[in-house]
Amino acid sequence: MKVTISRKAHFNAAHRLYRKDWSDEKNAAVFGKCSNPNFHGHNYDLIVSVTGEIDKETGYVIDIKILKDLIKSEVEDAFDHKNLNVEVEEFKDLNPTAENIVVVIYNKLKRQLDSNLELEVQLFETERNFVSYSGK
Ligand code: NI
Repeated sequence: MKVTISRKAHFNAAHRLYRKDWSDEKNAAVFGKCSNPNFHGHNYDLIVSVTGEIDKETGYVIDIKILKDLIKSEVEDAFDHKNLNVEVEEFKDLNPTAENIVVVIYNKLKRQLDSNLELEVQLFETERNFVSYSGK
Protein backbone atom coordinates (compact mmCIF):
# COMPACT_ATOMS: atom_id res chain seq x y z
CA MET A 1 0.00 0.00 0.00
CA LYS A 2 1.45 3.31 -1.05
CA VAL A 3 0.36 6.78 -0.03
CA THR A 4 1.26 10.13 -1.57
CA ILE A 5 2.01 13.16 0.59
CA SER A 6 2.31 16.59 -1.03
CA ARG A 7 3.57 20.00 -0.07
CA LYS A 8 3.02 23.29 -1.86
CA ALA A 9 5.77 25.86 -2.18
CA HIS A 10 6.46 29.09 -3.96
CA PHE A 11 9.25 31.20 -5.38
CA ASN A 12 9.57 34.33 -7.50
CA ALA A 13 12.19 34.37 -10.21
CA ALA A 14 13.15 36.14 -13.40
CA HIS A 15 14.15 34.48 -16.62
CA ARG A 16 14.60 34.86 -20.31
CA LEU A 17 13.97 32.09 -22.79
CA TYR A 18 17.06 32.19 -24.88
CA ARG A 19 19.67 30.05 -26.58
CA LYS A 20 23.17 31.48 -26.74
CA ASP A 21 23.85 29.64 -29.98
CA TRP A 22 20.91 31.33 -31.75
CA SER A 23 20.76 34.92 -33.04
CA ASP A 24 18.56 37.47 -31.25
CA GLU A 25 16.24 37.29 -34.25
CA LYS A 26 15.83 33.53 -34.03
CA ASN A 27 15.35 33.68 -30.24
CA ALA A 28 12.67 36.34 -30.72
CA ALA A 29 10.98 34.33 -33.46
CA VAL A 30 10.82 31.13 -31.38
CA PHE A 31 10.31 32.47 -27.87
CA GLY A 32 8.48 35.76 -28.56
CA LYS A 33 7.99 38.05 -25.57
CA CYS A 34 9.57 35.42 -23.34
CA SER A 35 12.90 36.20 -24.98
CA ASN A 36 12.86 39.87 -23.90
CA PRO A 37 16.57 40.68 -23.33
CA ASN A 38 15.64 42.56 -20.14
CA PHE A 39 14.12 39.43 -18.57
CA HIS A 40 10.69 39.06 -16.97
CA GLY A 41 9.41 37.46 -13.79
CA HIS A 42 7.02 34.76 -12.70
CA ASN A 43 5.43 33.76 -9.42
CA TYR A 44 6.17 30.08 -9.56
CA ASP A 45 4.12 27.68 -7.49
CA LEU A 46 5.06 24.09 -7.03
CA ILE A 47 3.56 20.95 -5.60
CA VAL A 48 6.03 18.33 -4.48
CA SER A 49 4.55 14.86 -4.01
CA VAL A 50 6.28 11.94 -2.35
CA THR A 51 4.86 8.43 -2.63
CA GLY A 52 5.85 5.45 -0.53
CA GLU A 53 4.90 2.88 2.06
CA ILE A 54 3.68 4.13 5.43
CA ASP A 55 6.41 3.57 8.00
CA LYS A 56 5.07 1.16 10.63
CA GLU A 57 6.67 2.98 13.54
CA THR A 58 5.98 6.61 12.68
CA GLY A 59 2.89 6.31 10.50
CA TYR A 60 4.60 8.64 8.00
CA VAL A 61 5.60 8.20 4.36
CA ILE A 62 8.04 11.04 5.02
CA ASP A 63 8.10 13.53 7.89
CA ILE A 64 6.56 16.63 6.24
CA LYS A 65 9.04 18.79 8.16
CA ILE A 66 11.89 17.02 6.36
CA LEU A 67 10.17 17.61 3.01
CA LYS A 68 9.51 21.26 3.88
CA ASP A 69 13.16 21.85 4.83
CA LEU A 70 14.34 20.08 1.69
CA ILE A 71 12.17 22.27 -0.54
CA LYS A 72 13.44 25.34 1.29
CA SER A 73 17.11 24.50 0.90
CA GLU A 74 17.04 22.99 -2.59
CA VAL A 75 14.41 25.17 -4.29
CA GLU A 76 13.42 28.30 -2.40
CA ASP A 77 16.86 29.32 -1.16
CA ALA A 78 18.35 28.46 -4.56
CA PHE A 79 15.78 30.14 -6.85
CA ASP A 80 13.71 32.69 -4.93
CA HIS A 81 14.25 36.29 -6.08
CA LYS A 82 16.97 35.13 -8.46
CA ASN A 83 17.53 35.66 -12.12
CA LEU A 84 17.58 32.05 -13.25
CA ASN A 85 19.68 32.64 -16.37
CA VAL A 86 22.31 34.73 -14.61
CA GLU A 87 22.43 33.54 -11.01
CA VAL A 88 21.52 29.87 -11.02
CA GLU A 89 24.27 27.47 -12.04
CA GLU A 90 21.92 24.85 -13.52
CA PHE A 91 20.66 27.34 -16.13
CA LYS A 92 24.00 28.73 -17.27
CA ASP A 93 23.68 26.55 -20.36
CA LEU A 94 20.09 25.38 -20.07
CA ASN A 95 17.10 27.36 -21.29
CA PRO A 96 14.96 28.05 -18.17
CA THR A 97 11.62 26.94 -19.60
CA ALA A 98 9.07 25.56 -17.16
CA GLU A 99 9.90 22.11 -18.53
CA ASN A 100 13.61 22.44 -17.78
CA ILE A 101 13.00 24.07 -14.39
CA VAL A 102 10.76 21.21 -13.24
CA VAL A 103 13.39 18.63 -14.23
CA VAL A 104 16.10 20.54 -12.37
CA ILE A 105 13.92 20.76 -9.25
CA TYR A 106 13.05 17.07 -9.47
CA ASN A 107 16.71 16.06 -9.75
CA LYS A 108 17.78 18.26 -6.83
CA LEU A 109 15.09 16.84 -4.56
CA LYS A 110 15.34 13.23 -5.74
CA ARG A 111 18.97 12.89 -4.81
CA GLN A 112 18.16 13.95 -1.24
CA LEU A 113 15.33 11.47 -0.77
CA ASP A 114 15.39 7.86 0.33
CA SER A 115 15.68 5.77 -2.83
CA ASN A 116 12.49 3.83 -2.03
CA LEU A 117 10.41 7.02 -2.21
CA GLU A 118 8.84 8.10 -5.50
CA LEU A 119 8.77 11.78 -6.37
CA GLU A 120 6.62 13.96 -8.58
CA VAL A 121 7.01 17.71 -9.02
CA GLN A 122 4.38 19.97 -10.55
CA LEU A 123 5.46 23.49 -11.42
CA PHE A 124 2.99 26.29 -12.17
CA GLU A 125 4.46 29.13 -14.19
CA THR A 126 1.07 30.82 -14.27
CA GLU A 127 -2.27 29.81 -12.80
CA ARG A 128 -3.13 28.07 -16.05
CA ASN A 129 0.22 26.86 -17.33
CA PHE A 130 1.96 24.08 -15.50
CA VAL A 131 4.28 21.16 -16.08
CA SER A 132 4.99 18.00 -14.15
CA TYR A 133 7.85 15.51 -13.98
CA SER A 134 8.21 12.23 -12.15
CA GLY A 135 11.48 10.95 -13.54
CA LYS A 136 10.08 9.04 -16.53
NI1 NI B 1 8.47 33.48 -18.77
